[in-house]
Amino acid sequence: MTIYILNGPNLNLLGKRQPEIYGRETLEDVERLCAEAAGEVPVKLLQTNWEGQMIDWIHEARDRARGIVINPAAWTHTSVAVLDALNAYEGPVIEVHISNVHKREAFRHHSYVSLRADGVIAGLGIEGYALAVRRVLTLLG
Ligand code: DQA
Repeated sequence: MTIYILNGPNLNLLGKRQPEIYGRETLEDVERLCAEAAGEVPVKLLQTNWEGQMIDWIHEARDRARGIVINPAAWTHTSVAVLDALNAYEGPVIEVHISNVHKREAFRHHSYVSLRADGVIAGLGIEGYALAVRRVLTLLG
């Protein structure tokens, strides 16, 4: 059983998109950090710009993933559907934001996903993903 590292819209452009906010590291760098943090436990990093695909992956995680690290990106602030899918998942869920959303526009201060997440990390850059993986492992015991 693996840990899913799920990424929402526009994160395929990580490293190129607004580097002054999100940095120059890419999703491949995120995957490497997460794999290092997970040690023997396999991680599967996925990214989509399609909300239905994200929901399908969260459903798939019910049978295939011991925990979820999720950066829902803009869906954080908009998606009851992503929240509902996560509510149907039983393992640990950690929400990650690369930027400090609380230092940004007011619409980024509210998160639907936080109603389900067991922990939230924001503003630590891509390091936040590795810390989230460590927390999932701690919660799994
Ligand atoms: C983000 C913050 C969101 O507000 C934004 O829509 C993103 C990325 C982050 O990682 O800082 O796309 O989740």
